[in-house]
Amino acid sequence: MEVVIVPDAAAGGEIVAEAMARLLRRKPGALLGVATGSTPLPVYEALAAKVRSGAVDVSRARIAQLDEYVGLPADHPESYRSVLRREVLEPLGVGMDQFLGPDGTADDVQGACEAYDAALAAAGGVDLQLLGIGTDGHIGFNEPCSSLASRTRIKTLTEQTRVDNARFFDGDIEQVPHHVITQGIGTILEARHLVLLATGEGKADAVAASVEGPVASVCPASALQLHPHATVVVDEAAASKLK
Ligand code: F6R
Repeated sequence: MEVVIVPDAAAGGEIVAEAMARLLRRKPGALLGVATGSTPLPVYEALAAKVRSGAVDVSRARIAQLDEYVGLPADHPESYRSVLRREVLEPLGVGMDQFLGPDGTADDVQGACEAYDAALAAAGGVDLQLLGIGTDGHIGFNEPCSSLASRTRIKTLTEQTRVDNARFFDGDIEQVPHHVITQGIGTILEARHLVLLATGEGKADAVAASVEGPVASVCPASALQLHPHATVVVDEAAASKLK
């Protein structure tokens, strides 16, 4: 595992966007796995700037989703598909025909999860998966004690996560779905390159546990230690508890 410490979130965004750009120059049809949340926004902004300046061409790039709410219509503004369309696809000028995601509205949710794993494999696998990290060490919606071998599956959100996410639903927890589909940790580990980005002091304990703690399901992000090509990009605040 490689740990890169950068001065601030903007520098983290730039370094990760440049890694994506390098990949796309080498492999124009690369499949990029993307996360939602606040942390990756500087990455998407920096990558969009590179597209606008002509430094990288994303016309053949493909984008894959990490997790999704169950039961929200795909066009609901807070479905992760909609969020990614707004925050990633539109700024990059990438069409929905270049997008892969699980069907959070399927009647057979388990079938939709299996279909998504199959779709990722059929697409040749994820080349670079960008991950954020929760303060409890979660990646995707794999909360502590998720199996490190897990596949894409349905998970029940903890009350705390629903409270945290209510800010995206007019502050009304009743509107926050109870269930999500998330790529499993085993699925995530199949990506060729994992890039975990963490910024801010609030992530410092989770980063230290993931990078220097034991590989254990109580800290899902510690599974990155098992991966042959994992890069952890942290700002100085998020790195502050590394030995
Ligand atoms: C979202 C996701 C989550 C977030 C994590 C950190 O798709 O996969 O694991 O990456 O909750 O969220 P932020 O970046 O908002 O702190």
